[in-house]
Formats: sequence, structure tokens, C-alpha cells
Amino acid sequence: MACQCGQGQKQTDKDKKLQAVFARYRGQKGALIPVLQASQDIYGYLPREVMERIAKELRIPFSKVFGVATFYAQFHLKPRGENIIRVCLGTACHVRGGAKVFAKLKEELQIEDGETTEDLKFTLESVACIGACGLAPVMVINEDTHGRLTPEKVPEILDRYR
Ligand code: FES
Repeated sequence: MACQCGQGQKQTDKDKKLQAVFARYRGQKGALIPVLQASQDIYGYLPREVMERIAKELRIPFSKVFGVATFYAQFHLKPRGENIIRVCLGTACHVRGGAKVFAKLKEELQIEDGETTEDLKFTLESVACIGACGLAPVMVINEDTHGRLTPEKVPEILDRYR
């Protein structure tokens, strides 16, 4: 019986989009980075199988694809959460308790810096100053800035994204 979960369909859609990316860039010089970017936009990260296909389609060694994907911070080799939390640990935020806010986030989400929750809801990342020092301590969830944080405010803010 055919799968009813919709995953198969989604997979096909992603596959079609990937084929379109290959069709657009095949044979072009300097295609690797734009192809990696477009592939990551489709999958949310760069699965190994996708990198293998990129190597095959662009006729370059897998080691080169892998090397570029791991060199640039913009590329992610593991699945990322639906919501990306960036917690500032810059000086102004640190002085005003940023580390405690970060500790509370780790405790609430049960993950460490750079990790993603098992349900793929959240990815947690520490960053240096994000230019909102007046609101310290600060975190950004997706496009939303949350300032003047305290550990007590963390659970309620997270609930808005669950
Ligand atoms: S130090 Fe955190 S926003 Fe500047």
C-alpha cells in the first residue's frame, strides 16, 4: 500500500527541485557554491546523499564537495530546527546575564550549543554581538529579537514557537 504520510510526495518535490538546480548549473564554471546553496535551501541542510549527487552531476570528486561544504559556515551538514535560536554571548550581554539565559535555554531544550532538538523544532546557537547591545541580554529567534531577557522569561518565549 502506498504511504499516506505525504513524505513520499515531499521527497519527490524536493527531488524535482534538485533536478532543476542541476539543469540550471550543469556545465557552468564556479557552480559548486551556488548549487550547494540552492540544495541547502531545498533540504534545509546538506544530506550526504545530496552531496554525493552534486559530485556526480557536476563531475567533481566528492571530497571537493564535502571540503567546500565543511569549510563555509553557511553550510550545514546536519538537520536544522524549524526555529533557529541565536543567543548573544557578546560582552554587553555577558555582563547582563547572557550566560544564565543561555544555560536556561539549554536546560529547557535539553541540547547543547550548536545542537538541534530531536523533534527538529529548535536549533540553539551562541553568537557574538548581534548589534542590539542596548537590549542586552538578547537572543534572536528566526527574525524576532527578544531583549532584556531573564532566565525566567525563557520558557514563555519558547512556548510561542512550539
Ligand atoms: S553584546 Fe549582545 S547584542 Fe551586543
